Amino acid sequence: MFSKTLAHVTRSCNKLNQVQAYNFGVLSEYNQRLSKKLHKGHLVEDKPTFFVTSSRPGNFGDHIDFKVNIDNWFDENRVHNEHETDIRRTQIYTLNAIYYGGLLSFARLYAMGVIGRLNGWKRYERDTYSEVDIGALPPGEVMQMVWNGTPIFIRRLTSNEVKEENELPSNTLLDKDKEVILSDAGNTKVIVVSAVCTHLGCIPIPYLGAYKGYVCICHGSVYDKFARVRQGPALLNLPAINNSIHDEGTLVCMEQLKFPHEPSQRFWA
Ligand code: FES
Repeated sequence: MFSKTLAHVTRSCNKLNQVQAYNFGVLSEYNQRLSKKLHKGHLVEDKPTFFVTSSRPGNFGDHIDFKVNIDNWFDENRVHNEHETDIRRTQIYTLNAIYYGGLLSFARLYAMGVIGRLNGWKRYERDTYSEVDIGALPPGEVMQMVWNGTPIFIRRLTSNEVKEENELPSNTLLDKDKEVILSDAGNTKVIVVSAVCTHLGCIPIPYLGAYKGYVCICHGSVYDKFARVRQGPALLNLPAINNSIHDEGTLVCMEQLKFPHEPSQRFWA
């Protein structure tokens, strides 16, 4: 009896144990899923799976697991990559086209700006040619007028004055390199120079000073009759104006040189 009862109790306990071993609720779900994994939305048994692919068949002696897994990863993703490649390539081409196209058009714009600026610095060529009748200008006298927007001196020099000027000492010249340009006008010479002082731009007064050339009363620069500076503060001679004499020394024709440093351009030469 006792043994029967014990057996019954033991069975019951075993049942109880079985029932207790069965987990309900969250824990049971956890245990059920322990050996599974979520693959494409489905719970599947997570067993180690081995694939042999055409690209890399496993060889005996190699680390087959590692290699096969790598190959599978590549194969699975290759389809995806190939699909995306066309789109990606198009995107890259388009972006490159936009980027380099923009860059090119900016470079072109900049180049056009620079070239246009260089070309269009002068919008038009000023007609600087003008003729002045100096028939009434006596020898030894200075005429002052405006040419090409600049005040100028036209001086008719007698041959004596020319001789005296040539005999002046050269050691007091401040601007030694400049050429003196005299034009023949009958038995006199004509010199045409700018009337803008090379110091700060005042207009010198003729017939004054030790040389009876020009004196700038702003700061006291002294020029001789050839408009060469003999006393500062100016350091440069009055600039010569390109001219030629016609009609037996009565007509001065003046024109600005386009390329003043090219001697062939000077029509008075
Ligand atoms: Fe002529 Fe100064 S501007 S000397």
